[in-house]
Amino acid sequence: MKKELTAKELKSKFLEFFRERGHAIIPSAPLIPEHDPTTLFISAGMHPLKPFLLGQPHPQGKRLADVQRCLRTGDIEDVGDDTHLTFFEMIGNWSLGDYFKKEAITWSYEFLTKVLGYDPGKIHVTVFAGDKDAPRDDEAANTWLSLGIPKSRIYFLPKEDNWWHSGETGPCGPDTEIFIDSGKPKCGKDCRPGCGCGKYFEIWNNVFMEYNRTKDGKYEKLAQKNVDTGMGVERTIATINGKKSVYDTELFIPLIKLVKESAKKHDEKSIRIIVDHIRAATFILGDERGVAPSNVDQGYVLRRLIRRAIRHARLLGIEKGLLKKLAIEVIKMYSDDYPILARKQGFVLQELEREENKFLNTLDRGLRMFEKLSRNKKELSGKDAFLLYQSYGFPIEMTVELASEKGLKVDVSGFNEEYRKHQELSRASAQKKFVGGLADTSEASIKLHTATHLLNEALRRVVSKDIKQRGSNITPERLRFDFNFHRKLTKEELKKVEDLVNEQIKKGLPVRREVMTFEQAKALGAQAEFEAKYGDKVSVYFIGDFSKEICAGPHVKNTKELGTFKIIKEESVAAGVRRIRAVLL
Ligand code: ALA
Repeated sequence: MKKELTAKELKSKFLEFFRERGHAIIPSAPLIPEHDPTTLFISAGMHPLKPFLLGQPHPQGKRLADVQRCLRTGDIEDVGDDTHLTFFEMIGNWSLGDYFKKEAITWSYEFLTKVLGYDPGKIHVTVFAGDKDAPRDDEAANTWLSLGIPKSRIYFLPKEDNWWHSGETGPCGPDTEIFIDSGKPKCGKDCRPGCGCGKYFEIWNNVFMEYNRTKDGKYEKLAQKNVDTGMGVERTIATINGKKSVYDTELFIPLIKLVKESAKKHDEKSIRIIVDHIRAATFILGDERGVAPSNVDQGYVLRRLIRRAIRHARLLGIEKGLLKKLAIEVIKMYSDDYPILARKQGFVLQELEREENKFLNTLDRGLRMFEKLSRNKKELSGKDAFLLYQSYGFPIEMTVELASEKGLKVDVSGFNEEYRKHQELSRASAQKKFVGGLADTSEASIKLHTATHLLNEALRRVVSKDIKQRGSNITPERLRFDFNFHRKLTKEELKKVEDLVNEQIKKGLPVRREVMTFEQAKALGAQAEFEAKYGDKVSVYFIGDFSKEICAGPHVKNTKELGTFKIIKEESVAAGVRRIRAVLL
């Protein structure tokens, strides 16, 4: 039997292929972003690279490749079919204003057919059909034709299918998606890549990022033409080894075995949901910026993943203890690539156990509430079902099941309506939510960013040399800076800090960027982000000889552009963490 290609082999073959073509290999950013206000989790390899796609110079150069941890919960209802996963690894290559369509497509084709050995006859591609915002992508189509992909396997599709963007605004562009024909019969006359029937497996996307979508929905040309590609490791492993589903690969077989060993019943979909969700939960808990389950933001996504897995484990007759076993297996599989997982194993297991106990507790209380609500009724209303969902974490199918055991009906469409209203509310607040970094790259935000570097250094000089940044959040109106310190700062200290920053502004210090290795930067005493993992090369921003910090930018050219620095507030945010808000006048 032919030896199967493992995920590790795929990743190293990919990186090697692009290294030979002049790409620097950069490490995966954490799954939880710090510098992107538009998303709770990194969901594509390009997310951590946004500043560089918009024109900031990257310290490793114009050609990059990596393996990035990603999480997508938009398709969570589809998890359990053959291809959808919440957590996955995405391998990708980038051109930051360097090569464009012809090279990117040719290399994709070469890697798939020559290195991985895909049958060229099974490759189908989609390209952008053109509309009022951008022309039909004939260059991409012609490149595919020149490589031998016949017209009949090139599909021109509209924006919904062939345009990639990472949020409402920001870098975006037409893409060409590569699918492998699984050999299944067509689902109908209109069967095509992307129709969703499972005949065609999407494995790789090449985005030609030359546009920026503005707040008012316009598409402007970016200063540089970029390439952003993304290939799903799990899907590629599945197709190359002739598997029907991602769950039939080496990445899931050991996890599924653990579920089956403790299950009293068999249900394929429940098994898949459990392994997918606990694998994702392990990566969220074990992230460099890992969070615990909670009712907000990343913590709430994590809570839903864990609870949904517990509920499905119960359906299979599994009592307790499975979650930890699965997490240990995931950590074993991935800790060579992500050593942080092994370092955080204690935290991962403790939080899974805690959440399991908590949910089993609410489960019993929820069951009592269900009894109360269903007394003397023929029908549970949508509102009742939503109460059980929101307060006790009962998925709708569980309420329906419980109701039918008592001969009751549930108003499912009423529930869906309540759910939709709630989703809209939480989506609106998620969009308003902004965790850290720069809210935008307006002139005002850039000035405040440079002022943040001055503040960081001034605190160390005036208050304590052990002060380190714990977080920052900058909008055009103000800066917010968190740092470690055990007590309130005195009025005198705040005044001295403010004066020292203003002195540096008045001096008109030049801001200079230098690229060096992480070791060189550390040796120079440059400030670095807590627990972050850096690539071989980093950008260090020097402000005169006052401050040095590893940072991606952007910054002003000279401190004299800043005006007058003023501290508005100093307060505590957590044990041992203080926060300063300041403005430029
Ligand atoms: N950013 C593109 C994607 O995630 C490559 O599909």
